[in-house]
Amino acid sequence: MSKLIILSNRVSLPNPDKSTAGGLAVALQDALSDIGGIWLGWNGEKIENHHDPHFSSTEYEGVEYITCPLTEEQYSGYYCGFANGALWPAMHNRADLIEYEPEEFKVYQQVNRLFAHQLAQITHPDDVIWVHDYHFLSVAHYCRELGMQNRIGFFLHIPFADLNIWNQLPTAQSLIQDLCQYDVIGLQTEHDQKRCMDVCHHFLASQVIHYNVLNYNNHQITIQCYPIGINPELIQKVAQQKKENPHPIFEFEDLINQKTIISVDRIDYSKGLIERFNAFEEFLKNNPEYHKHITDLQIACPCRIEIQAYKNLYELIDSKVDFINHEFSQDNWQPINCSHETVAHDDLMKIYLQSDICWVNSLRDGMNLVAKEFVAAQNPDNPGVLILSKYTGAAEQMSEAIIVDPENRGDMIKALKTALTMSKSERLERYKQLMQGLKSFDINDWRNAFLKDLRRVPVLHIFKSPLRKSYNRIVSY
Ligand code: G6P
Repeated sequence: MSKLIILSNRVSLPNPDKSTAGGLAVALQDALSDIGGIWLGWNGEKIENHHDPHFSSTEYEGVEYITCPLTEEQYSGYYCGFANGALWPAMHNRADLIEYEPEEFKVYQQVNRLFAHQLAQITHPDDVIWVHDYHFLSVAHYCRELGMQNRIGFFLHIPFADLNIWNQLPTAQSLIQDLCQYDVIGLQTEHDQKRCMDVCHHFLASQVIHYNVLNYNNHQITIQCYPIGINPELIQKVAQQKKENPHPIFEFEDLINQKTIISVDRIDYSKGLIERFNAFEEFLKNNPEYHKHITDLQIACPCRIEIQAYKNLYELIDSKVDFINHEFSQDNWQPINCSHETVAHDDLMKIYLQSDICWVNSLRDGMNLVAKEFVAAQNPDNPGVLILSKYTGAAEQMSEAIIVDPENRGDMIKALKTALTMSKSERLERYKQLMQGLKSFDINDWRNAFLKDLRRVPVLHIFKSPLRKSYNRIVSY
């Protein structure tokens, strides 16, 4: 029987308490356990260079999790290096931060080959393979090189850059050739889909068959947008569930007379954190009547701290928060309450429920699930307000949020005032529309739509699986 095999850099290891897990992990776990499957990836650990990474496996509810550590060299060349030091800034429109090192690109390719080899070990010919994210642009290429004829799909969770930026990556041509060894390429938005079509067509001597289909060396590639969703009903339930021994990071009882703004971000230059703090600072300067009546709650999780740009931003954020708090604090009131803790998913939903406003300020973002989860967690009789950057994928589907330009301080301050003074009837109307949108294409619809298109791909036989230049396949009936 055909199985589903998922490959992602991070693997959500089995969690018997599903309510604490994030939406994506649950949806993929469900898809895997429905038909039986395997989740493959990095186990999050590092080992010394002279050790060989070994795969180990564990099983939970019909799903086999196969993971391995990375060596220090792989972690630094593949994860911190090419994936997060070159591809991430490129895809987030930060050409100024791209650090391209040929040696790191080599290690990225080695790690992609390592996982392709592992896929070859565990895959039967009729299994379906679904690869996730920018860490693995070249995996399908190595699978084909090994003679694998499976249907292989790819979903990019982050934005797809335009040609200008791809042109600044010295290895763009070979990466795009590798990418086009996948059968289905999934993107978050229509804009990403269009950029992906244009870039692939530019770098390859390909033929456009349809607005979402390319033909490259007799291989048809579907390039389609599948905006990732959430499970709104589950989130609504989780947000309202009482919890024994809660560990609140914010004391909402002390904020009873305050308007609260919640923001949840990894500390990443794509998230527009500093731009948001600057706008909040100016708001406080010009609106003293809000002093002691508004609190900005920020969960800011450090990540990729080995990369200089991330380390610098971490320090900058701490000093910006200290500065604003020092400038405006009075009595027991502190305008910003910033935590670097990672919060369990169900606790986060409860924080959303208790907050008046959620402010998502990304300068570039594939989708942004915080925006969707905040709406889903609201009290339907008294919902909060979402301020959402126009540069998130979510903004394409959530036009009833207050849409802002995160680079325009005046616009953000205006949006904050609108959110603070919005009538209950308007909040209810916007919430109703937003919630309807979330229910109309949820996380299971996203997964099913992608897998349906992938399963439609005819099973192919590869005659020959040579290197990047060409490989010839024919359809078998
Ligand atoms: C963000 C992106 C995901 C990506 C992840 C990697 O959440 O939206 O697309 O896979 O970062 O995070 P990591 O902590 O593994 O670097």
